[in-house]
Amino acid sequence: MSFTFRHLLGTEALTRDEINFLLDQSRAFQAIQKQPLKKLATLRGKSAVLAFFETSTRTRISFTTAAARLGADTMNLQAESSSTQKGESLVDTVRMLEAMKPDVIVIRHAASGAPHFVAERLGIPVINAGDGLHEHPSQGLLDALTVSDRLGRLDDLNVTIVGDIRHSRVARSNIHVLSKFGCRITLCGPAMWLPAEMAAMAPNIRIEPCINRALPGANVVMVLRVQTERLREPSLPADEYIRLYQMTPARLALARPDAVLMHPGPMIRGLEIDPAVADSPQSTVLEQVTNGVAVRMALLYLLTGGAPSGAAPQTG
Ligand code: CP
Repeated sequence: MSFTFRHLLGTEALTRDEINFLLDQSRAFQAIQKQPLKKLATLRGKSAVLAFFETSTRTRISFTTAAARLGADTMNLQAESSSTQKGESLVDTVRMLEAMKPDVIVIRHAASGAPHFVAERLGIPVINAGDGLHEHPSQGLLDALTVSDRLGRLDDLNVTIVGDIRHSRVARSNIHVLSKFGCRITLCGPAMWLPAEMAAMAPNIRIEPCINRALPGANVVMVLRVQTERLREPSLPADEYIRLYQMTPARLALARPDAVLMHPGPMIRGLEIDPAVADSPQSTVLEQVTNGVAVRMALLYLLTGGAPSGAAPQTG
């Protein structure tokens, strides 16, 4: 297929063919990461702005690594040490960054829709690295690549997502991706974190507050990060969350024996996940991180004008 994306703002609008195309492109970069020399010159002379207005470890370092491995330069904005602290607006900040002539901007922002806002105002490609409660598309793609690696397919899987569904952009991006492959998705968590409207996001979504009913038959178990500040609400103390929803070995055993256990990170051991589960052979936590670099290499490559398919990455 021809490559027609100008931005990557979410996974909702992607078709199944487009997702397969992006995963195929990412696989080419997976192979490169297994080589002793991982650095390419494919994007030499290009530069990427990484504008992170919200904290990040994995996504920021992953895009930085991806750019470096393609030979591109990165220009970093971290909000806490930038002039946004002096009151500079988002639009003035990104226009200023564009004036330094980068080829792409990767943006994370606490406001849902911020990357769309930026994309409408700049003349360069925009990659959404997580916006508010909306989407985290590169995470959705790297998760799909990881499932596909482990299980050999994306089609027709039972996927259970456990935790704070309401506030999870990771959950939304994964739902948009996996539902295009006919997956049946069960959303499990405390009732206050299970918005009814999310059941309408795709045809095969089930809301199930009881974890013992949500896990049987699951091929994929995705545990979400719990933001500890939300557990201060009197209705849900941390020990109650642990009792009802922590992913323990006994609970994981309710899923299929070959089920894949995923977590996007950052992971709080002892809260949403038992360390024995996080470190189990079923866990793909570190594979997700490795695959994140490959997916982001593919995105940077394609959005800055690289040729699609088996073309491209030339070493040197
Ligand atoms: N998964 C993820 O987005 O992690 P970071 O917040 O560390 O980037």
